[in-house]
Amino acid sequence: MTVIQIRLEPSGQQFQADPGQTILEAALAAGITLPYGCRDGACGACKGSILAGGVDHGKSRPDTLTEGERAAGKALFCCAVPQGDVVIESRAAAGVANIPVRKLPARVQRLERAAEDVMVMTLKLPANDRFVFLPGQFVDLLLAQGKRRSYSIASSPSREGEIELHIRHLEGGFFSGQAFATLKEKDILRFEGPLGTTYLRDDTDRPILMVGGGTGFAPLQAMLETLLEKESPRPVHLYVGARTRSGLYRDELSRRFAAASRNISYVPVLSEATPACQWSGRTGLVHQAALTDLPDLSGFDAYVCGAPAMVDAARRDFAAAGLPEDRFFADAFTVAAN
Ligand code: FES
Repeated sequence: MTVIQIRLEPSGQQFQADPGQTILEAALAAGITLPYGCRDGACGACKGSILAGGVDHGKSRPDTLTEGERAAGKALFCCAVPQGDVVIESRAAAGVANIPVRKLPARVQRLERAAEDVMVMTLKLPANDRFVFLPGQFVDLLLAQGKRRSYSIASSPSREGEIELHIRHLEGGFFSGQAFATLKEKDILRFEGPLGTTYLRDDTDRPILMVGGGTGFAPLQAMLETLLEKESPRPVHLYVGARTRSGLYRDELSRRFAAASRNISYVPVLSEATPACQWSGRTGLVHQAALTDLPDLSGFDAYVCGAPAMVDAARRDFAAAGLPEDRFFADAFTVAAN
């Protein structure tokens, strides 16, 4: 079998790929953590440059990797399959490089219906086995038939012995269907993690803009809990979007975060408010509400989590508002095929 050689610049690290393997799969298998999130061509976290050689861009989405970017030698490494030896350029995700990715069993400790279509599931981790992760990372639940489903960790790493996941009910969803119907406390699940390189960067004092749509609030909750525990002086502007009032789950918690620190502000935004919502707050697209309040993002870090269309729009519009490309951290929640 022909083995493909990949050289990573500027570090000079070398690793190999099997034919058909994506660059990201090959890097992770070699213990090299390139930036990544959705692994599905939707979030743009893995975007880098091909300096030499050719790739098949596979299932890269045109919204995430434009024709112009392809022509300029950019690629999504979660989708790009090298067609021969290649030289690539990417910023390494140094913050998670030494955190081991593990497979662990966990017991369902609590199931709490937080909204009509959101279940908050707390998993009890094995005793005497510290699970290390950074706020913003996610885990893959390892399910029957070899299926996996990704969920952001919503709890702070300081909550020892348990993690919290927010499960949105999807019609016909392989796991979310179980979570809302048959899953019960004390059931045993297995997961792999922590995964992803969207995590709270704390090597800066830049103010933070957080934008979450639906259960995209989950990783933001983990970051907010962490910032509060550390009594961070960084200003945090939290915008949470939902279609209707009933979709604004954890609204009370967000209000408590804002009440607990004068550095944190919270703005809920409804995109399809109806009279039944009895809503007098902000309306429209959540990322645009943030832009209305914060038209110059050049000094900010932005964390955006939710549906791919929202992440794409925020990436484009925040860049136009001056946000540097390398200060945009996103998690796009794609729907896995059954
Ligand atoms: S990890 Fe490649 S686009 Fe999300």
